[in-house]
Amino acid sequence: MKFKAIFSVLLLGFICYACGSDEQKSKSDKPRNILGEKVYKRNCLACHGLDGKAKTNGALDITESTLELDERILLIKNGRKTMTPFKSMLSEKEIKAVAEYTFTLK
Ligand code: HEC
Repeated sequence: MKFKAIFSVLLLGFICYACGSDEQKSKSDKPRNILGEKVYKRNCLACHGLDGKAKTNGALDITESTLELDERILLIKNGRKTMTPFKSMLSEKEIKAVAEYTFTLK
C-alpha cells in the first residue's frame, strides 16, 4: 500500500512536470520572424527606420501601409521611386520573410 502511495505521488509529480514543460515549449514556439527581422535591419532600416515610421529618402511609413502581403513582396522585389529593388540582392525566401516582418511593425 505504501508503495502505491509513493508511486501515485511520483506519477502526479511527473504529470505536473510534463504539463509545465509543455507550457514552456509552446511559449518558446511562438513564431518570431527572425529571418525577416534580420533582413529588415540590414536592408530597410536606412530609409524606414527601426519601427518602419521613418520617412528618410521619401520613404513611406510602413505601419500605415495598406498593401497586402503579395503587393509588398512585389514592391520589395521591384522597388518604387527611390526605393531600391531587392530582387537581385535578396532570395525569394528572404523577401517573403521581410514582407511578413513589415506587418509586425507598429
Ligand atoms: C533607399 C530607401 C529605401 C529602402 C532601402 C527601402 N525602402 Fe521601402 N520605400 C521607400 C520609398 C521612397 C517608398 C515610397 C515609394 C512611393 O512613394 O511610391 C517606400 C515604400 C515602401 C512600402 C510601401 C508603403 C506603401 O503603402 O505604399 C513598403 C511596405 C516598404 N517600402 C518596405 C520596404 C522594405 C521591406 C525594405 C527592405 C527590404 C525597404 N522598404 C527598403 C524607400 C526605401
